[in-house]
Amino acid sequence: MAHQWRGVIAEYADRLPAHVQERVITLGEGGTPLVPSPTLSQRTGADVFIKVEGMNPTGSFKDRGMTTAMSAAAGRGAKAVVCASTGNTSASAAAYATRAGMLCAVLVPDGKIAMGKLSQAIAHGATLLQVDGNFDDCLVAARKLAESYPVELVNSVNPDRIEGQKTGAFEIVDALGDAPDIHVLPVGNAGNITAYWKGYREYAGFDAGTAHAAVATRTPIMWGFQAAGAAPIVKGHPIDQPETIATAIRIGNPASWQQAEEARDVSGGLIEAVTDEQILAAHRVLSAEVGIFVEPASASGVAGLLKLSDEGRVPAGARIVITVTGHGLKDPQWALRTPDGSDVVPVRISSDVVSIATALGLD
Ligand code: F0G
Repeated sequence: MAHQWRGVIAEYADRLPAHVQERVITLGEGGTPLVPSPTLSQRTGADVFIKVEGMNPTGSFKDRGMTTAMSAAAGRGAKAVVCASTGNTSASAAAYATRAGMLCAVLVPDGKIAMGKLSQAIAHGATLLQVDGNFDDCLVAARKLAESYPVELVNSVNPDRIEGQKTGAFEIVDALGDAPDIHVLPVGNAGNITAYWKGYREYAGFDAGTAHAAVATRTPIMWGFQAAGAAPIVKGHPIDQPETIATAIRIGNPASWQQAEEARDVSGGLIEAVTDEQILAAHRVLSAEVGIFVEPASASGVAGLLKLSDEGRVPAGARIVITVTGHGLKDPQWALRTPDGSDVVPVRISSDVVSIATALGLD
């Protein structure tokens, strides 16, 4: 049989803790495409690649950390897991809990999660509670629940989540032969920037505490982007009522705030804000010019890169990798709206070929 990608725990066994390997719960996550983007390279004068995390089993990067968190929980004999979520974590937790034969409870902010993600959690049989509050309230409640009741927390405050998610950085270095100059990604609860930084550090021979030879000669500069209405790290204080159309990153008090600042500062990078308009413009560039359909939050890294490029802040020729975090089909409505806010209405036509050819301008 031809080689098939085996999931991040099997592929990176020597770089992951032993306790996640006793009972491996996997859906074949990881091994996602790293796609060169001539369009973005041309626009920015850099050498841009896109890491397409929507290609994971549940359509987002969360699966990388869920395989490790769920495997650790299963290894300990856990029967139930809980998470707070803006949608993707809940979809992933629900799928991996199904695979593990565990119960899954998810707490989501009432009315603020995309329909595709809600459908996933329900389809996989999770008990979904819509909480009267935002993501930050959900996370506080989920943490308290896991402290007092027999359920394990699988949010990214669980270190096993970070271990799995760091494999995104490994794959990029493995594909490019070294770390890029700059890594760009959206920042919400700040688990992913923490995980990528850890992965890059370990591959460059820092922090691992093992006898591994370095695979990379350096670590990249980390550029993170928050939505302007939900930009606590940029503002320097928690936001009580975060607002953005990018519901996945509608977060006012990120759990890994300090780690995100460390990644930014040690790498000589930045964390800045992009407006909803910039996010939607980048979303259109990705779908209509690059050929990759993402959910709005996932476009915020590209929005940030384009903003910095407009401001003349992108070093010419730099090798840049942007993680686009989740699939467009999770929250598809944004494609059906024009930049001026009107709905896109498909052209209706009879089935005769001449009319169709005329409508297509082929005559
Ligand atoms: N992009 C997407 C599509 C996400 O779902 C998230 C986070 C992020 C970016 C930000 O990543 O939190 O590690 O900084 N989603 C979480 C969830 C909060 O519940 O699904 P982060």
